Amino acid sequence: MLVLFGSPHPKGATAQVLEAFLQEVDRQAVRVVSFDAYRGNYHPCIACGYCQTKEACVFSDLDEFDQELRAADYLVMAAPVYHLSFPAPFKAVMDRWQRYFEARFAMGIRPPIEKPKTAVFLTAYGSRDAQGVQVMTRQLELAFTIMNTRLQHVVAWPDTDHAPNGKAPAEILSQARQAALAMTGEI
Ligand SMILES: Cc1cc2nc3c(=O)[nH]c(=O)nc-3n(C[C@H](O)[C@H](O)[C@H](O)COP(=O)(O)O)c2cc1C
Repeated sequence: MLVLFGSPHPKGATAQVLEAFLQEVDRQAVRVVSFDAYRGNYHPCIACGYCQTKEACVFSDLDEFDQELRAADYLVMAAPVYHLSFPAPFKAVMDRWQRYFEARFAMGIRPPIEKPKTAVFLTAYGSRDAQGVQVMTRQLELAFTIMNTRLQHVVAWPDTDHAPNGKAPAEILSQARQAALAMTGEI
């Protein structure tokens, strides 16, 4: 299981949803590898075209991510809504997935990622307007078409601006746990 975390707050709203999700993942059966988009400070895509002729990126800072992605059965994308989209460091990682599009369409490698995966999207947002979640879900689905990945669940905590004590509602935590159990085949 590959986790990509994209909030600057290690104990914030998104982290609470992710923690509930991971609580239900059986660590005996599933190896969990986590990448933190903020702490990783990954280079943005510069559209240099390197990946149109080589199955690689001109920058090596996501090589380990690429290896773990190819090996993974499950992807967990966890990020809050920023301006109806992903926070910039998380989006930087997504833009680096362009190499998989180029592998498919410029180099004819089919599929560019061999192992099929299921994914979950965990998010939180301050308002009651779910548009950001819809946009982000579309963005993930677009990228996943080329990554042999099916988005299985979206768990979104709305209205975090008005959460008492900053704690996630039990219903949201329960949805996150259910998503983990369903994804790893425990239910
Ligand atoms: C730069 C920035 C942009 C934001 N944009 C939105 C937005 O478009 N819609 C929304 O509902 N909340 C927005 N928010 C609020 C966050 O989504 C909300 O505070 C969320 O709970 C943060 O999650 P975290 O604690 O995991 O970082 C924004 C917050 C920041 C800092």
